[in-house]
Amino acid sequence: MTEVLKVDPLYPELDKIKKAANVIKAGGTVVFPTETVYGLGANALDPEAVKKIFIAKNRPMDNPLIVHISNIDQLYEVAKDIPKKIINLVNIVWPGPLTFVLKKTEKVPKETTGGLETVAVRMPAHPVALALINESGVPIAAPSANLATKPSPTRVEHVIDDIYGKVDVILDSGETFFGVESTVINVTVDPPVLLRPGPFSVEELERLFGKVVVPEQAKGTAEFDVALAPGMKYKHYAPTKRLLVVENRSVLRGVINELQKRSCRIALLCASEVCKQFRGEKIEIIELGSENNLYEISRNLFDSFRKLDKSNVDIGVIHSISEKGIGLAIMNRTRKASGFSSIYNIEDVWKYVGN
Ligand code: TXA
Ligand code: MG
Repeated sequence: MTEVLKVDPLYPELDKIKKAANVIKAGGTVVFPTETVYGLGANALDPEAVKKIFIAKNRPMDNPLIVHISNIDQLYEVAKDIPKKIINLVNIVWPGPLTFVLKKTEKVPKETTGGLETVAVRMPAHPVALALINESGVPIAAPSANLATKPSPTRVEHVIDDIYGKVDVILDSGETFFGVESTVINVTVDPPVLLRPGPFSVEELERLFGKVVVPEQAKGTAEFDVALAPGMKYKHYAPTKRLLVVENRSVLRGVINELQKRSCRIALLCASEVCKQFRGEKIEIIELGSENNLYEISRNLFDSFRKLDKSNVDIGVIHSISEKGIGLAIMNRTRKASGFSSIYNIEDVWKYVGN
């Protein structure tokens, strides 16, 4: 049985938080909101509890989890040999959508880190998440609360669609804020390496930490080496429908025409400014939000992928947007979701779509 509790996102009701915290303390699983996406949590220090996360999500056991903390003492409980530069900066960047990969302590079981000697840690900036960790009194391991084959959940309906009945409690606090997962940065090496772009931008990271290595893979144009980012080797969510990313926007109209010639039913996932040009045509429009506000687009992105899968079309088409700030994370998730189906010329369509 799963219990769904509605919790105020800004002023979480203590009785409900206590109820969920008791589940965590007893080794159970709780879905909770963070400022990025919903997480599926269990006591990070209890291997049996952590195993339940992998089972509920159907996640491979060697894909490591993020450990969520609510105070700095917990950082020292789970991580050691923390670089001085990081110690000086955690109070500035946390709570927030930034995850550090650090050396793990003995206390953290291998189940939590997928067998690695490192641990990913973050302090989320969401009142419900912080209250839950506080009341539980333990760090909470939590991946995103989706089934392993689906996009991360940004709304509680997504969580219910994916894992209702497989977890003990779901805390429903409405839509999450950023809508894409946290930035992950490996700080066990110098200079640090960006493993996953997120709401905490590369521009901001470099301002605070100096040089940061941004591998080509961070753009989502290719997969990471297993050695560099163990968890990233897994096939990421790809819609069951084919999704094409039109990188060169001047060919968007041509790509749509070309697909229509072949009688493809199309859903266009587009910025509001672009949608306008296609309204009234025989195309399903899934609006992402204004290009002048990339946070609006990031917030709607995963919901738009789920809408595409549910819609009655043959193919989805999405266009590129700026890679500045949170835009890099948006393009990373988009390219991965498309299975790297990038379109630069009209002819590229036929690489991905049969005649
Ligand atoms: O915003 C977020 O980060 C959300 C919320 C719930 O906090 N969590 C999330 O977790 O997205 P998950 O498990 O879906 O993604 C965590 C990523 C994975 O790609 C994993 O492989 C990587 O972080 N990761 C975790 N521990 C790692 C480690 N020790 N070394 C390298 N990568 C690690
Ligand atoms: Mg995930």
